[in-house]
Amino acid sequence: METVLSGIRSTGNLHLGNYFGAIRNFVKLQESYNCYFFIADYHSLTTHPTPADQHGNVRQVLAEYLAAGLDPEKATLYVQSDLPETAELYLLLNMNAYLGELERCTSFKEKVRKQPNNVNAGLLTYPVLMAADILIHKSHKVPVGKDQEQHLEMTRTFARRFNNLYNTEYFPEPSAFNFGEDLVKIPGLDGSGKMGKSEGEGNAIFLADEPEVIRKKVMRAVTDSGPTDLNEEPSQPIANLFSLMKAVSEPETLAFFEEEHAKCTIRYGDLKKQLAEDVVTFTSPIREKINEILADPDYLRKVALMGAEKARESGAKTLKEVRSIIGFRAF
Ligand code: TRP
Repeated sequence: METVLSGIRSTGNLHLGNYFGAIRNFVKLQESYNCYFFIADYHSLTTHPTPADQHGNVRQVLAEYLAAGLDPEKATLYVQSDLPETAELYLLLNMNAYLGELERCTSFKEKVRKQPNNVNAGLLTYPVLMAADILIHKSHKVPVGKDQEQHLEMTRTFARRFNNLYNTEYFPEPSAFNFGEDLVKIPGLDGSGKMGKSEGEGNAIFLADEPEVIRKKVMRAVTDSGPTDLNEEPSQPIANLFSLMKAVSEPETLAFFEEEHAKCTIRYGDLKKQLAEDVVTFTSPIREKINEILADPDYLRKVALMGAEKARESGAKTLKEVRSIIGFRAF
């Protein structure tokens, strides 16, 4: 069975964009692949080295993924730092990663611009740590978004280089998992691009948002001054609201408002009210589940322990083999 792996940032709560873009697909993948999903807490240190937040962030993300349907019995769900073998493989891979290629990486250049006072070596070698995450389980497929494609390409380079150097076929070269039609892009509420937590306050709807918060955010969503011609194409902000509606509402609801728009009789207040209620209906069971899980530390501990154990079984095996390939021997 092929191995699928994906890392999840431990900074920030999950929003509807994460849900439709990734999590929903992870939930499907766990049915038919050997899946590893982990929370990338080592990686978070490159930008968020705050001990007081560290554990809480990981706990929140773990609870949210469980609530959204990841099943610790089906997938291996673990915290990156619970698999310290990752760190050793990272060290070994660093010996074959070149400064030039790391400096050319787009995400590195962006971080240099964004945090000029903290251009740490962890930022530079971020792609090597990511390669270690992927290769530690000899993963075949990695479901990632566009922004991670270059990192995955670098992982392939490091895997190939290792194989060539030691004259082995040890690491598979992982490919991006393509969701095709299942990839639903969710726009934000600010009338422009996609939903994201860094796009400004109120642009993203979080799975853990209370109904009142959701209603406020949706009612403040950007619209336009209304259609003036029959069958006019909706403007970007309105098309965005329709996209959200397509994700969370009944098809008839969307059809109704699209028709109202085409007839120029649409009332955006009604559209937003309906959309807000449908978002609340959609997220409420997940929110309630998040709160239930967060209130049950024993369950979370059990899940984390189980994940760590399964991950270490696979990771320790890989590392033992890698050490042997490299030529480390016991006396
Ligand atoms: N870099 C990824 C992100 O920012 C998270 C991540 C870390 C990851 N390690 C990974 C994703 C390994 C896939 C595979 O979203």
